[in-house]
Amino acid sequence: MSYAHTEVAQIAAISSNRCIGKDNELPWHISADLQHFKRMTTKQNDGDIQGIVIMGRKTFESMGSKPLPKRVSFIISSQLDYAKQKGLIGKDNAYVVHNLDDALTQAASLAHGAHLDTIWVIGGERVFSDALMYTDRIELTHVDTEITDGDAFYPELPSEFEVAEESEKMHDEKSALDFKFVTYKSKQG
Ligand SMILES: NC(=O)c1ccc[n+]([C@@H]2O[C@H](COP(=O)([O-])OP(=O)(O)OC[C@H]3O[C@@H](n4cnc5c(N)ncnc54)[C@H](OP(=O)(O)O)[C@@H]3O)[C@@H](O)[C@H]2O)c1
Repeated sequence: MSYAHTEVAQIAAISSNRCIGKDNELPWHISADLQHFKRMTTKQNDGDIQGIVIMGRKTFESMGSKPLPKRVSFIISSQLDYAKQKGLIGKDNAYVVHNLDDALTQAASLAHGAHLDTIWVIGGERVFSDALMYTDRIELTHVDTEITDGDAFYPELPSEFEVAEESEKMHDEKSALDFKFVTYKSKQG
């Protein structure tokens, strides 16, 4: 659990059948959830780096291939020239790495220097699943809908995770969807 003494947390919004994505987009638009994601992954401090996120290549592309503002992004791809393709060489807010271990090691080292306690794993399916063994905390938005034609899914939680906090059920007017925020913590943390 944890990585080089830095907390590893995951954040995702999932449907009742654990779908997280469809055609490389989110299956819904819930503005309160996007705000929740921003609030969780961006710590208000004086430093230049306010958050550190790790994501797969498709998740990066689903967000317009742009690094998230105020945060440093680690993007995992097996493509050796991916940083060059995306014009990311020399940037100090986005790094392409070629496996999860490199992402976690570099992210933890940056977190120490920037006085950040947490590294955020933000998807997609394989990255969530491979990172579970290092994860201390999971922030899930449970969206009360079933997505029948999704193509990316959040893994089942291992038994060491238990609910630590749970919000009231909320309602998004625009999408007409109900949702709630649940924090899971590992008993082994
Ligand atoms: N609901 C949510 O909270 C949430 C969160 C995140 C994403 N999403 C959705 O999920 C979908 C994208 O997720 P996804 O599961 O399809 O893809 P993804 O995990 O974002 O990206 C997959 C790609 O990442 C690279 N990759 C991942 N692990 C790797 C490893 N260990 N070593 C080398 N490369 C690795 C590979 O890139 P290469 O092919 O370049 O080698 C792989 O094809 C979108 O629909 C997005 O909107 C939803």
